[in-house]
Amino acid sequence: MNYKVAVISGDGIGPEIVREARKVLDAVAKKYGHSFQYTDVLMGGASIDVHGIPLTDEAIAACKSADAVLMGSIGGNTTTSPWYKLPPEKRPEAGLLKLRKSLNLFANLRPALLYNELKGACPLKDEVIGSGFDMMIMRELTGGLYFGERKTVEENGVRKAYDSLTYDENEIRRIAKRGFDIAMKRKKKVTSVDKANVLDSSRLWRKVVEEVAKDYPEVTLEHMLVDNCAMQLVKDPAQFDVILTENMFGDILSDEASMITGSIGMLASASLNDTKFGLYEPSGGSAPDIAGQNIANPIATILSAAMMLRFSFDLDKEADAIEKAVQQVLTEGYRTGDIMSEGCKKVNTNEMGDLIAERV
Ligand code: IPM
Ligand code: MG
Repeated sequence: MNYKVAVISGDGIGPEIVREARKVLDAVAKKYGHSFQYTDVLMGGASIDVHGIPLTDEAIAACKSADAVLMGSIGGNTTTSPWYKLPPEKRPEAGLLKLRKSLNLFANLRPALLYNELKGACPLKDEVIGSGFDMMIMRELTGGLYFGERKTVEENGVRKAYDSLTYDENEIRRIAKRGFDIAMKRKKKVTSVDKANVLDSSRLWRKVVEEVAKDYPEVTLEHMLVDNCAMQLVKDPAQFDVILTENMFGDILSDEASMITGSIGMLASASLNDTKFGLYEPSGGSAPDIAGQNIANPIATILSAAMMLRFSFDLDKEADAIEKAVQQVLTEGYRTGDIMSEGCKKVNTNEMGDLIAERV
């Protein structure tokens, strides 16, 4: 089969890690007789430099006409990059938020699992790690604080900023259903994370999640307050299967979850709408401090490409092949700098991509 993939390399380490993911996809294409037709799309700082804005209508159209989008990362150093002298709606991140909204990518899946081989890179103590953990963070991606009305005003000489956090029941219901559907294919447990002791949006979240849970009698549902969840993630990560949560909580908790897997460079993600279409990107950022040095870890992007094969193209066997190749390379002791430990073989971005592609 032929698949059309829109590719957003983006900024910072983006182009380097996307290059390696394409290398691995090409190895899959060769072995299994598929072809991937790539279209490069500009977003973030790369688009600002050319068009003055982080995402053009043409870029959105190019993504819509593809079967899926593969993305690296966007953004630069927020204190030194000239992109951050622009008004907020013209900065790199605004492009990503606009793309998520335009493509209706409301369901963000961020799997966080600890590879046995990377236990040494996990900052938790052995007794906390136990036999490891494997969780899926389901983050609502097109609502809440990141899309609410915001403004900064001056009242009687005092500057004042507003951000609003709104959810309607339909937005909560559709992400909750996705969360329960995924839990049915896993360990059948959903931890819904909110701040219902303070926020109205969280109280509605809790009610709607409970309504949805009635259709999934086999799934165990528990509620957890977000501050407690932040603590539980480092106290007993194995208790989690699916973490279902709103946009900002999911943003924060997924960074925390990624760190306990050894490195943010290991965490893949899929952002899905109601159809088979999706955007696939590593959960980590553009890491401008190490950009262009060929030392970034491409594994999260490569695993994101595997998610693309699985969720958008229904190529399960091919996705398995990529995931197994990653596992094998780790077992053989190859590591990029971020996950390096004693006795392992240190490789750069390009070599890691070659090793995985060879093993597909
Ligand atoms: C992420 C990132 C983005 C987000 C930024 C770049 C807007 O942190 O994908 O987690 O907050 O969603
Ligand atoms: Mg984030």
